[in-house]
Amino acid sequence: MLTKTQLASDEIARAAWHLRAGRLVAFPTETVYGLGADATQGAAVAAIFAAKGRPRINPLIMHVANEDAARELGKFGPLAGKFAAAFWPGPLTLVVPRLEHCQVSELATAGLGTIALRVPAHPVAAALLREARVPIAAPSANRSGHVSATRAEHVRADLGDAVAMILDGGPTQVGLESSVVDATGERPVLLRAGAITAAQIAAIVGAEPARAHEGGAHPVSPGQMLAHYAPRAGLRLGATSVLPGEALLAFGLAPPNTMGPILNLSPTGDLTEAAANLFAHLRALDAEGVGVIAVMPVPDIGLGEAINDRLTRAARR
Ligand code: TXA
Ligand code: MG
Repeated sequence: MLTKTQLASDEIARAAWHLRAGRLVAFPTETVYGLGADATQGAAVAAIFAAKGRPRINPLIMHVANEDAARELGKFGPLAGKFAAAFWPGPLTLVVPRLEHCQVSELATAGLGTIALRVPAHPVAAALLREARVPIAAPSANRSGHVSATRAEHVRADLGDAVAMILDGGPTQVGLESSVVDATGERPVLLRAGAITAAQIAAIVGAEPARAHEGGAHPVSPGQMLAHYAPRAGLRLGATSVLPGEALLAFGLAPPNTMGPILNLSPTGDLTEAAANLFAHLRALDAEGVGVIAVMPVPDIGLGEAINDRLTRAARR
């Protein structure tokens, strides 16, 4: 499907005006849609938490136009500098120490000494950031606990009443959230698997990133502790056949003569295509009203790590 990458400049200007007036605006990024507010206005940031029903202990990502703007908010060590050079603009979020004079609301960073920063690559997000001239705090534009929104109509269904405006950029290209990397220490820690794979990160620093769930002294991301990405239906993972009454979320060649609703993440077994389809397919199968969605195995390599992370969370609920 085509991605709408350009919007009329007056639409962008109107969205920027809403943001500066303290209102919420949903906008597309290359990963998922974001629910944006001016990060420097505490009341606007509070409205994000209220609209999503999000626990206030879970900090947000600050979106900025470029690395210079990011360096006004957080302290960049050598590691963060390398990652920014390699992946920005793009689907990588860096967690770095928050600067003393940083103007971002304490609520947005949940009172932590660190701040999560990202320079999105989507032209609509980039245009909005240029026009707004403030850092935009934006979580994924879904109600807390739901799967993320990859289309404007998902945002409308979850949060339509809470936003002043939705910038419709069509379906998002990547479909999975950004990878969140803690770059405060000497070795990067992958806090959330996402659009940038562990192998891509390893190629920059010469070693696999540590994983937050390895435990020990590693930092964790508050968001990873919470229930997340859950459809209403239960999920049965690793399914190779479909039981009566189940829907099927297939990957690759689906079992023949399957009854009931079926959607395929990627008939050819392509992980990039599967990532782009994941949340929309989960929402669509959930809407069929089945009790259980059987999910075929997805290989745990490359983007498969992030896909399996989301599926495991959705099943755990
Ligand atoms: O692709 C994305 O990242 C999307 C688009 C809109 O940019 N945003 C997104 O935001 O997924 P959200 O709020 O759904 O997830 C942000 C994650 C959460 O798991 C949160 O706990 C973590 O980032 N996070 C934010 N600030 C942090 C910090 N200072 N330290 C550790 N984790 C942090
Ligand atoms: Mg989210």
